[in-house]
Amino acid sequence: MLTAILDFLKKEKAQEYVSGEEISARLKISRQSLWKHIRELKEAGYGIAAVPHLGYRLVSSPDRLFPFEISSRLNTRVIGRRIFYFEEASSTMDLARKLAMEGSCEGTLVLAEAQSSGRGRLGREWFSPKYKGIYLSLILSPKASPGQASLLTLVSAVSICEALKEVADIKAHIKWPNDIISANKKLGGILTELDASSGGVRFVVIGIGLNVNNDKKTLPASATSVREQKNGLPVNRVELLQELLRRLEKNYLLLQKQNGPESIIDKWRSYNMTLGRRVKVVFKGKCLEGEAVDIDIGGGLLVRRDSGLVEKVMAGDVVHCR
Ligand code: BTN
Repeated sequence: MLTAILDFLKKEKAQEYVSGEEISARLKISRQSLWKHIRELKEAGYGIAAVPHLGYRLVSSPDRLFPFEISSRLNTRVIGRRIFYFEEASSTMDLARKLAMEGSCEGTLVLAEAQSSGRGRLGREWFSPKYKGIYLSLILSPKASPGQASLLTLVSAVSICEALKEVADIKAHIKWPNDIISANKKLGGILTELDASSGGVRFVVIGIGLNVNNDKKTLPASATSVREQKNGLPVNRVELLQELLRRLEKNYLLLQKQNGPESIIDKWRSYNMTLGRRVKVVFKGKCLEGEAVDIDIGGGLLVRRDSGLVEKVMAGDVVHCR
C-alpha cells in the first residue's frame, strides 16, 4: 500500500496537492487508513505536506532504499519482485543464500544499508559504510550449467555500466572478470556464488557492491565513488538502484534469447578495458602472462602467451601490465 500511495503522490505534478478523498477512492481504502499510511511514511522520513481541503503533497524523500520506494514505478517483472531490506546486515550474500535454500523465488532481492562483513572475491573484504553505497544480492535460477553461470557476471557488469551512464552520466569500464572501473579506480564489484548440485545450477546469488555517495577522503587510493566522479555532487541511490534493476532484467531476459550470450558479450566488449592489453592473471598460486585477446562464449578470458598458445582462464586476479 505504501508503494501505491507513493506512486500516487509522485504522479502528481510537483507543487500540486492531491486530495485525500481522491487517493482513498482510487486505492479503495478508508480516509482513516490513508491517514495512518501517510503517518507511517512521515515517520520513515518522507516530507509530506498536508493541508485541509487541499490534501497531500510529497515534498521530500529520505535517502533510504526502502522496498516500497524501490518498487514504486520500477516496472520489472522478475527482478526485485520480492525485496528484503536491512538497515544493517553481516553480508547480503549469506541472507540471500539462506532465502534461496528456503525456496525464495527468482528475482528476490536482498538490500542492506550497511554490512559488517561484506565480502568480495577471493575472500577480500567489501567496505560497506551506512547509507553510502548500494549493497545487494539477487537470487536467480537460470536454466544453465555451472559453466554458463559466469555469463551472469557479464550481464551484471553490463547492467551496472548502463545504469551509471543513464543516471549519473558516468562512463564506467569493466575490468575482467568483475571490477567496475571509473577514472582507473574501482567503483564497484560483482560477486557471483552458485549452488550447483548434480550438474545443474540450483540457484545463483549475484552480489553487487557500488560506492555511490562515499566521500573521496574515506576511500582507499585505489577506489572511487559515483559522487567523486560527479565532482562531489551526491547521487540519488534510489534512482540508480531502480535503473540497475531494470537493466538487469532487460539483459537477463536477453541472455535467455537465441544468440543472447553473443549479444551480451558484444555489449560487454564495448565497456571492457581488459581486451587488447598485456595482462598477468594470478589464480591459485599460478601466474599466466600474455595478451588478453577475447572472452569466449562462457565468459572465460582468452590469453595469448608469448609462445602464441592461447589459454582460457575462468577466474583469477588480473593485473593490467601496460
Ligand atoms: C569484488 O569486487 O570482489 C566483489 C564485491 C561484491 C560486494 C557485494 S556488496 C553486496 C554483496 N554482499 C557481500 O558481502 N558482497 C557483495
